[in-house]
Amino acid sequence: MNSSPSPPTAEKAAYVNQMFAGIAHRYDLLNRLMTGGQDVNWRREVVALCRLPAAGRLLDVGTGTGDIAYEAKRTHRDAEVIGCDFTFEMMEVGRRKRAVRSPRFPGGGRTGRVEFVQGDGLHLPFADGYFDAVASGFLLRNVTDVDTCLAEQRRVTRPGGRIVCLETSPPPPTMLEPLLRFYMLRAIPVLGRLFSTGIGTEGNVLGPRDAAYRYLPQSTVAFLQPEETARQFERAGFRHVSYVRKMMGTVAIHVGTA
Ligand SMILES: C[S@@+](CC[C@H](N)C(=O)[O-])C[C@H]1O[C@@H](n2cnc3c(N)ncnc32)[C@H](O)[C@@H]1O
Repeated sequence: MNSSPSPPTAEKAAYVNQMFAGIAHRYDLLNRLMTGGQDVNWRREVVALCRLPAAGRLLDVGTGTGDIAYEAKRTHRDAEVIGCDFTFEMMEVGRRKRAVRSPRFPGGGRTGRVEFVQGDGLHLPFADGYFDAVASGFLLRNVTDVDTCLAEQRRVTRPGGRIVCLETSPPPPTMLEPLLRFYMLRAIPVLGRLFSTGIGTEGNVLGPRDAAYRYLPQSTVAFLQPEETARQFERAGFRHVSYVRKMMGTVAIHVGTA
């Protein structure tokens, strides 16, 4: 098994799965640190863009620790919200949030109920057209086949329903590009090393301890620019495709209609 932060395609799914299993317990904290807390606002925007109808059904693919799914449940109490991921350990962290009293819920009530289903984003375990909206956060660049992942999301979305994807993108070619690359490729691995104690020790699939937080920015730099992702949405058959850039162009939210 290759231990580089940029695994070959044949090994990528296993690498990604084990990497997220290893960082699950620190994932939320590192997200907040790496984005200066902005990720919370982006997930809110993702859910708003889903335009979920009353008592609608939302799927959060690559749900990880469930933050998009919980945001959907917070704002749409009567919705059926399912989070799906192939990494059990990430969803375990998410499931535990279900039982935690959250100050974000009015009246200090419990977080809404989100169903977690283990499954592969390339073969979703749901019927055609079951969902009113399918959302994802930071999933696409981690899959081995973006076209199949989008086709699956389209398959499980009802005609007229929405797909909304939050994803990082390579720094755009502006004066800030060197600074943004420095932050991604140098500063983020240091944050990862400082805050992700106990993950990925030498000799296992992850290699050195900070490999996960070298893989994450490297996969961003190697990913598609938002306009290319938008073309993939159109190739997958989505209509009314658009995107908004965030965080100096290093994050984008894509929207399409099935
Ligand atoms: C960067 S995390 C994002 C978690 C969450 N969506 C968020 O907004 O923070 C990416 C997640 O995608 C999951 N993932 C990657 N490839 C997948 C696949 N083919 N099928 C299902 N989940 C996948 C990983 O296990 C991981 O939990």
